[in-house]
Amino acid sequence: MTAIEHRPSGPRVFPAGFVWGTATAAYQIEGAVDVDGRGRSIWDTFCRMPGAVARGESGEIACDHYHRWQEDVDLMKELGAAAYRFSVAWPRVLPDGRGPVNRRGLDFYRRLVDALREGGIEPYVTLYHWDLPQAIEDRGGWRVRETAERFADYAEVMYDALGDSVSNWITLNEPYCSSIVGYGEGRHAPGATEGHGALAAAHHLLLGHGLAVTRLRALARPGQRVGVTLNMSPTVPATTSPEDAAAARRMDLLVNRQFTDPLFGGSYAPDMAETFGRITDFSFRRDGDLETIGTPVDFLGVNYYYRLHVEAAPYEEADPGRRTAFDLGVRTVTPEDARTSGLGWVVEPEGLYETLVGLTTRYPDLPPVYITENGYGDDGALEDTGRVDYLRDHLAATHDAMTAGADVRGYFAWSLMDNFEWARGYSARFGLVHVDYETQERTPKSSYRWMREFIADPVLAE
Ligand code: NOJ
Repeated sequence: MTAIEHRPSGPRVFPAGFVWGTATAAYQIEGAVDVDGRGRSIWDTFCRMPGAVARGESGEIACDHYHRWQEDVDLMKELGAAAYRFSVAWPRVLPDGRGPVNRRGLDFYRRLVDALREGGIEPYVTLYHWDLPQAIEDRGGWRVRETAERFADYAEVMYDALGDSVSNWITLNEPYCSSIVGYGEGRHAPGATEGHGALAAAHHLLLGHGLAVTRLRALARPGQRVGVTLNMSPTVPATTSPEDAAAARRMDLLVNRQFTDPLFGGSYAPDMAETFGRITDFSFRRDGDLETIGTPVDFLGVNYYYRLHVEAAPYEEADPGRRTAFDLGVRTVTPEDARTSGLGWVVEPEGLYETLVGLTTRYPDLPPVYITENGYGDDGALEDTGRVDYLRDHLAATHDAMTAGADVRGYFAWSLMDNFEWARGYSARFGLVHVDYETQERTPKSSYRWMREFIADPVLAE
């Protein structure tokens, strides 16, 4: 299903009511890590580990959005965006991850939500975008079941605080990264390299999601919605060999189906035992978990950046980052003639088409989809033609997928502004708006102007 089939000719016109927005995440933009009673998160700790983050950078100051949020909301208004996806820092609200609520932390999000509403911008609130309270990590983090319960409690705290003004809730952002990259590969906080622990983390994240959905639904007012955001990367075998085909399937399980099958297919992916059986005995699973995880949601958020081209590789030659705990015998490769981003990521809009149409085909009960992230990383040029091309081509692929039957309702560009790009620090920039980290000056790039014109008239000429 990789080819874009039977596209009718003529301009691509997005329907009225299609939601246009931008996205950010708390630790990547807020800064102010010691302000107003915020507790520590695993990213505060991870950034201090020697070698963990490029140049030893951290989100300590980031875009200082905690103090400059009004200016940032103005940038969104000027863009004409109808929606904004941001995340709440769990340790700002519950400094110990549980127990007493920090009113001053909540007040920040109240100010932000009120300003968005006044500006006619719909907030889409992500509850967990990777900044687990350190106190929760100290009790085992996502390796342990209790964290799923604490996450559901925190979701309820947030609904109590903002439920009168926020109608769109996203439980998790990219549980693949929180579990496999954070607990298995060690490239993200908490920097662990465990096999069983990482797969337990994936399970407990899904469970926490399901518990939170149940709690939020019980509280929700009519019309309010709950969803979850997953990163989706279709995998492509590097050659036609059966070995590469099998390797691509293992990678697809690790990145995609491990999450989508229990969420939308009512079962664990069929090849879990075969692929991960040497790493774990799955003792973290309990009766009833699958039902909780599969609690219906109102929408799926898809984050799409690239496809993964995969070949079979002996353990010693596998991607260094991916081999620590996951000896899956796979290696990702960049095809020779590939178009790549400023960060060297393969640019393949057909992968977004494939993702959207593929999900629609695989899961008959799939809820409506929002693209909650899509974007292009580079070194920050103001004349960012690569980003404009990327956005245009991925919007075209989105429209083609809709024509082919995918129910896509909105698109959030990653990101409103340059920010802290996790282990890469500040050198990788994804913003429509440039941030000068010395002065905190914001400067719209060409892509911001392109997006503004596009949102005003969302039509792509042929
Ligand atoms: C996905 C993550 O959700 C976001 O935090 C990150 O900055 C982008 N990918 C770009 O890597």
